[in-house]
Amino acid sequence: MERKIRAIYPGSFDPITNGHIYIAERAAAIFGEVRVSILVNLRKQYTFDVEDRHAMAAEALSHLPNVTVDHFTGLLVDYMRQHNAQVIIRGLRAMSDFEYEFQMALINRQLAPEIETFFIITDAQYSYLSSSLVRDIFQLGGAMENVVPPSVFRRLRERFPAHFD
Ligand code: PNS
Repeated sequence: MERKIRAIYPGSFDPITNGHIYIAERAAAIFGEVRVSILVNLRKQYTFDVEDRHAMAAEALSHLPNVTVDHFTGLLVDYMRQHNAQVIIRGLRAMSDFEYEFQMALINRQLAPEIETFFIITDAQYSYLSSSLVRDIFQLGGAMENVVPPSVFRRLRERFPAHFD
């Protein structure tokens, strides 16, 4: 019997970028179901609230039939057990990501040995890209077209009106 592997792709997605979309597409080609799960950490300040982060991600991933969007609070492994998910997807850009990802993967394994973390290397064109960098650029009055999907671009411009328009 074929087993459908359920994977969770967790993150802040504040906002989702083309780099995240690339990882979700590659994960969707491997796993039966991929759930993009947006963290709501009540102690953290986000640029976009969870409804906005959710709406942007759902729109950007609507072309992938086996990908859904959800959000969670608390421990990732608890959430995964509730949803019967076996695999955590994380994207890797450069070596600088490794230390944090290694630590997180080992902590999650300690908490839930049955869950596997699966790393997908980003596309070279997105190796420099991060949500925080994108937010900073827009906040400072810049605009980058090809790093976020159109709906995210629009919301960033609304949130941070360009200084020189
Ligand atoms: O996009 P990010 O901020 O790099 O994602 C980090 C995330 C959401 C995967 C991580 O912070 C997380 O899983 N948080 C939930 C709390 C938890 O389970 N912590 C233990 C693992 S470090």
